[in-house]
Amino acid sequence: MRDRAIIEIREASKEYETNAAPVPALRPTTTSIADAAFVSIVGPSGCGKTTLLKMIGGLIPASTGEIRIKDSPVTHPREDVGFVFQSAVLLPWKTALENVLLPIQVRRRASAADVRRAEELLDLVGLSGFGGRYPHELSGGMQQRVSICRALIQDPACLLMDEPFGALDSLTRENINVFFNKLWLQTGKTVVMVTHSIQEAVFLSTRVIVMSERPGQIVDDLVVPFPAQRAPEIIGSVEFGELANKVRKYFTKANLD
Ligand SMILES: Nc1ncnc2c1ncn2[C@@H]1O[C@H](COP(=O)(O)OP(=O)(O)O)[C@@H](O)[C@H]1O
Ligand SMILES: [Mg+2]
Repeated sequence: MRDRAIIEIREASKEYETNAAPVPALRPTTTSIADAAFVSIVGPSGCGKTTLLKMIGGLIPASTGEIRIKDSPVTHPREDVGFVFQSAVLLPWKTALENVLLPIQVRRRASAADVRRAEELLDLVGLSGFGGRYPHELSGGMQQRVSICRALIQDPACLLMDEPFGALDSLTRENINVFFNKLWLQTGKTVVMVTHSIQEAVFLSTRVIVMSERPGQIVDDLVVPFPAQRAPEIIGSVEFGELANKVRKYFTKANLD
């Protein structure tokens, strides 16, 4: 069951229409992502990573090809797909709890059960008791955890994350990586994450997809062979270093983003 594909990308490409010449952002791309996998996408700045993630999330249409999630074509943003952006983008005048409930409240009044679920999610990310705080009362790492809860409130099968931890300092980032590995194990979500950190990609993922310069295409697709539960100690291991170097060799000249 774990190997069943939940996301299927078939010859999906993107060319942005502009007032000037069209911008080819992504070459026809084909791959599939297994249920409960954790897939990272790394590649040079501007190679189409965000474009691909937005296409999977139904935020923008593909120019050619098709993307299917759970065997149905992606045509618009779906409730079973959560999106986490690089910055937490919380509404400053709403509390943490209200921000988590936002995806529900744009459609209907939140029920007592919704509030309970939001509180459970805040507990899960280590923010019990912080539901009443406003974003400016929370650190960057805490804000990003609130936005992860917001992406999880509708219990999506897939979580798409665009450089979610990029704005955090390196110590916070390491802690949140360990925490996020646990969250992924506990929730069983399929995660697709764009990151510019090779270490973060190898540490968190079951698979790392490497993309070329724009217009991007997949140039490598590596299995990360470590057990699902990751301890920070693996970062110092020979296997970890070898895998990270394998990814790094694609970017000796290019600018990673
Ligand atoms: N809305 C848009 N209109 C025109 N060009 C765009 C648009 N969005 C992105 N691009 C261009 O498409 C390419 C890929 O962008 P993006 O997917 O954001 O790259 P990445 O996330 O890998 O840095 C870039 O050259 C970018 O400038
Ligand atoms: Mg991007």
